[in-house]
Amino acid sequence: MEAAAVASSGTGLRCSLNPVPNPHKISARVRFTTTRQSCAATCRPLLLLRPTASAYSAAIDSGAGCSGVSKRLAVFVSGGGSNFRSVHEAALGGKVNGHVAVLVTDKPGCGGADYARCNGVPVVVFPKSKSAPEGVSTDQLLNVLRDLKVDFVLLAGYLKLIPGELVQAYPRSMLNIHPSLLPAFGGKGYYGSKVHKAVIASGARYSGPTVHFVDMQFDTGRTLAQRVVPVLANDTPEQLAARVLHEEHQVYVEAVAALCDDRIVWREDGVPLIRSQANPNEYM
Ligand code: GRF
Repeated sequence: MEAAAVASSGTGLRCSLNPVPNPHKISARVRFTTTRQSCAATCRPLLLLRPTASAYSAAIDSGAGCSGVSKRLAVFVSGGGSNFRSVHEAALGGKVNGHVAVLVTDKPGCGGADYARCNGVPVVVFPKSKSAPEGVSTDQLLNVLRDLKVDFVLLAGYLKLIPGELVQAYPRSMLNIHPSLLPAFGGKGYYGSKVHKAVIASGARYSGPTVHFVDMQFDTGRTLAQRVVPVLANDTPEQLAARVLHEEHQVYVEAVAALCDDRIVWREDGVPLIRSQANPNEYM
């Protein structure tokens, strides 16, 4: 599990969903408006859009600006969103054949949500909580993801356990990134600097991020990709976190690119492998 911090610029679109009595009618209850609002200090003025049924459907039908072949991604974030940002930038730059269709967060004020709003990515709050009463239920979220024709779900520092219905709705199609070499230093309670503190305290000489498929528990799904960084003698948790995070941004983009290109091959024993783009007979 996990979280962290970032911000950015751009002209954006904001999509907020109000909880509705009937989850199956959710797409009919969203409304667009075209109020201009200013974003964070670092952002250009933002076009605030509240979803209306017709504009929401139009966004879905048009693929919300993406090309017909690119995959549609939902990214889940609780913190700064630097991994979300690297995937979003890779998609815009053509390194990932995908389009971020929606940002899902349990923390509507987090850096990742700000970045989304400033960059035209609709934001949905999930789950509903005391601090986020605008949040949607699991059924409502599933309907939104279906309406938006989301192909893949990417967890990028989202701290809540994903409900089973959601995991089941995206078989072999939901990834997470964790800042340690799983299965070491993973599971409930291992998030943020706790991971790096535990790695340093253990005396491990190497650490690094793991990209894995999501199952019903924290950090136990099949490993798809890893990167190794050294743990130095005088490392602080912050120094180690920065070294690992740098690798996270590379390895998550590579794994998501492979997912969007259908370059993931499942070995007979259930281990997923990434087929190299340059040479289809090699695995990364
Ligand atoms: C990363 O360390 C990631 O491995 C973990 O949460 C952190 C998120 O960082 N799951 P950011 O929000 O992407 O900057």
